[in-house]
Amino acid sequence: MLWLAAACTATAAQGDAGSLTGVPGDPARGLAILRDPSLPSCLICHSVSSLPDRDQGVLGPSLDGVADRFTADAVRLRIIDARKASPETIMPPYFAIDGLFRVGSRWRGKTIYDPQQVEDVTAFLMTLAE
Ligand code: HEC
Repeated sequence: MLWLAAACTATAAQGDAGSLTGVPGDPARGLAILRDPSLPSCLICHSVSSLPDRDQGVLGPSLDGVADRFTADAVRLRIIDARKASPETIMPPYFAIDGLFRVGSRWRGKTIYDPQQVEDVTAFLMTLAE
């Protein structure tokens, strides 16, 4: 029981990340970031059935209803560094640079998103309720 309690505490600590900026994210900007061809899109791997975008991904779970399953803090954590929730994940960290190998030169030493982009994409995901 003691072990279980400790494990639960650890999960809670790893399952959330508070706002990086204190400025609320803008869902419309978040969607624009997903569609920005210069940034690796979530839609490479995920799908959102309410979007008309073609060629959505099937490697990751659908993001439909993600706001019903996760809090904003849990979504933000997964965008910042999904390895914190799922250590073996293939999902790239959008706001972490540690522990990566053979990173393409464009992204070496740089995060994919800046802090406000993390907030905007989090805000867009939180509109995906069923
Ligand atoms: C290279 C593929 C890939 C990309 C790109 C990617 N993801 Fe993921 N994502 C995954 C996979 C696979 C999972 C399943 C969890 C795991 O790997 O353990 C996942 C899980 C998630 C989850 C948890 C969903 C659930 O129902 O369990 C969220 C939220 C998420 N991703 C959001 C995003 C967002 C937002 C982006 C873009 C900023 C993104 N992902 C980019 C592959 C990807």
